[in-house]
Amino acid sequence: MKAIEIADGIFRVAANIGSKELFEGIWPIPEGVSLNTYLVKGEKTALIDLVKDWDDALDQVNEQLAAAGSSIESIDYLIINHMEPDHTGWLSEMKEKNPGLKIYCSKKAVPLVKAFYKIEENVFAVGSGDSLDLGNGKVLVFEDIPNVHWPETMATFEKSTGILFPCDAFGSYGQVNEHVFDDQLTPEEEKFYEEETLRYYANIVSTFSGFVTKAIKKLSDLDIKVIAPSHGIIWRKNPSKIVEAYQKLASYHNGPAEKEITFIWSSMYGNTEKMVEPIIKAVEAEGVKINVHRVPQEHVSFALADAWKSAGLIFGMPTYEYRMFPPMANVLDIFDRSHVKSRKVFRFGSYGWSGGAQKQFQEMTEGLKWECIEPVEWQGRADEETVEKAINQAKELARQIKAL
Ligand code: FEO
Repeated sequence: MKAIEIADGIFRVAANIGSKELFEGIWPIPEGVSLNTYLVKGEKTALIDLVKDWDDALDQVNEQLAAAGSSIESIDYLIINHMEPDHTGWLSEMKEKNPGLKIYCSKKAVPLVKAFYKIEENVFAVGSGDSLDLGNGKVLVFEDIPNVHWPETMATFEKSTGILFPCDAFGSYGQVNEHVFDDQLTPEEEKFYEEETLRYYANIVSTFSGFVTKAIKKLSDLDIKVIAPSHGIIWRKNPSKIVEAYQKLASYHNGPAEKEITFIWSSMYGNTEKMVEPIIKAVEAEGVKINVHRVPQEHVSFALADAWKSAGLIFGMPTYEYRMFPPMANVLDIFDRSHVKSRKVFRFGSYGWSGGAQKQFQEMTEGLKWECIEPVEWQGRADEETVEKAINQAKELARQIKAL
């Protein structure tokens, strides 16, 4: 990958991370992810955000810095918008190679720089409205955007070009190759980044949706011409498109989301599985889109993305040792952490000697403000009457979703 000059003296210097990694150690990234840093050259030089020693990220970035006429040793200022190690992992090595480096970060990030990297010298706290003049017309202005996606996060705005560097905000999963800017994308690539934005948002940002809305409001005072996040593509033709997309995703926080149903199911010996096909057909018969995921065969990351955008949820799972089938308990734990709130919900499932899944299901979802219609449970294999009952409940849920 080459360093890309996005404006006079401002370069995207980035690394593509491969598909074998887990983002944050938990989320699969089958299409990889990009880690973007930005080099701003005035009389002095600043680097905005870093990368972590992941795959060959350091080689990629070193090579591009050299191509842009710079190096890790010659950077004057490092701007840390966000402390998560995907953007700071290289810091100890950078500081070793560049002992005079001045670090600018938010007030809340200062103790984290010390805690993570044992660096205290030349660390300067900045807050909303503070600026750093690099000379030659390049001025960086800082804006706190807490909890997008950790409490210490800020965004950096370059005044002369109107480029916003918001770190995680407005980012996505997915490697970025030849086409770096929104106006270069093919329709297939547009769809790809739309899907990768949804899953990225649902996986790592959704919990903080209230803060996303606040950040968008705060940043609207700036005359933003380009949005250059630290993951994903750069928005130079239509930056409002990604802002609107984030606004919409944040609005799903308390529902209603889209008129779709996400159906997540699991089965031990096939007795719950037998109900899957009839349920799918019942929802489709009502003309409602249904997204189907099976756990643990599929990682919860994907079900979460669909659930985040769906107004309706269906869960099919058996009882296991007097409680829910464990992979489904994990799904609900993740949904709780991710604040998948205010959905319309139906649950069904089989049990052997005793029930118990429904009780735990109710306990785990208590705080999520879900409107649950009557569940359907049965012992052993479902008879025709039970299948009919479950079909009717699925249709009822679908009708409720249509009526939103
Ligand atoms: Fe890309 Fe919250 O780190």
